[in-house]
Amino acid sequence: MNAANSVKNNGMSVIIAPSLLAADFTRLGEEIARVEAAGCELLHIDVMDGHFVPNIAIGPDAVKALRRVSALPFDVHLMVENPEDYIERFAAAGADYVTFHLEAARHPLRLIEQIKNAGAKAGAALNPATTWESLRYVAANLDLALLMTVNPGFGGQRFISAMLPKIAACAQWLRRENPACRLEVDGGVSEATAPAILAAGADILVAGAAVFGAADAAAALRALREMAAAPRREPADKTEAD
Ligand code: DX5
Ligand code: ZN
Repeated sequence: MNAANSVKNNGMSVIIAPSLLAADFTRLGEEIARVEAAGCELLHIDVMDGHFVPNIAIGPDAVKALRRVSALPFDVHLMVENPEDYIERFAAAGADYVTFHLEAARHPLRLIEQIKNAGAKAGAALNPATTWESLRYVAANLDLALLMTVNPGFGGQRFISAMLPKIAACAQWLRRENPACRLEVDGGVSEATAPAILAAGADILVAGAAVFGAADAAAALRALREMAAAPRREPADKTEAD
């Protein structure tokens, strides 16, 4: 396929991952079934401990219960201090990806190994103010790098557009460093912001409010999926300073 007319970013098909945080918590099983029927390929599950972020959400028992009602791959985003204490429990509960925050990791390379030994794929997340270059000595071992585009802790926040050059620079670097590593963008993704995020080179877009907050979650997911599948130019070679 002609690179200038590619539907892939970082050489991979783009995935939209609905974030369960914005779903109706009184009927999570039905909410998942709705997006699953609309072609969902990955479910993003936010875990918050009230310390790393000023909010509390979803523990391993909840993930285990959800695992019983869904065959979707689970993308578990740990916004917690001491992630090393929780990895095995989330992996055993059915997480396919376990992503920790680099800001909460004393020994990130050890954490990545711990996640892989637990049988999951390993991700590292960066807060908006953390430079993407902190992935430099970590990315070779990663399955996923997650760039936050809001300050973590809450759904429904406004996308920080200053993150676009960071996404582009990281995407370009990651493509050379570890082409198999997914680049996920999380926070404020919507039909309005997705085109610029896709153009910057992300290949997983997390969408909470834009999917589960919509009147018709299935239609909202389909619209984002169509946008992700539309032909676009591969991001041009750029530096963060551009
Ligand atoms: C924020 C979470 C996000 C959040 C995204 O702390 O990590 O995954 O659910 O929600 P939206 O898409 O509504 O910004
Ligand atoms: Zn998240």
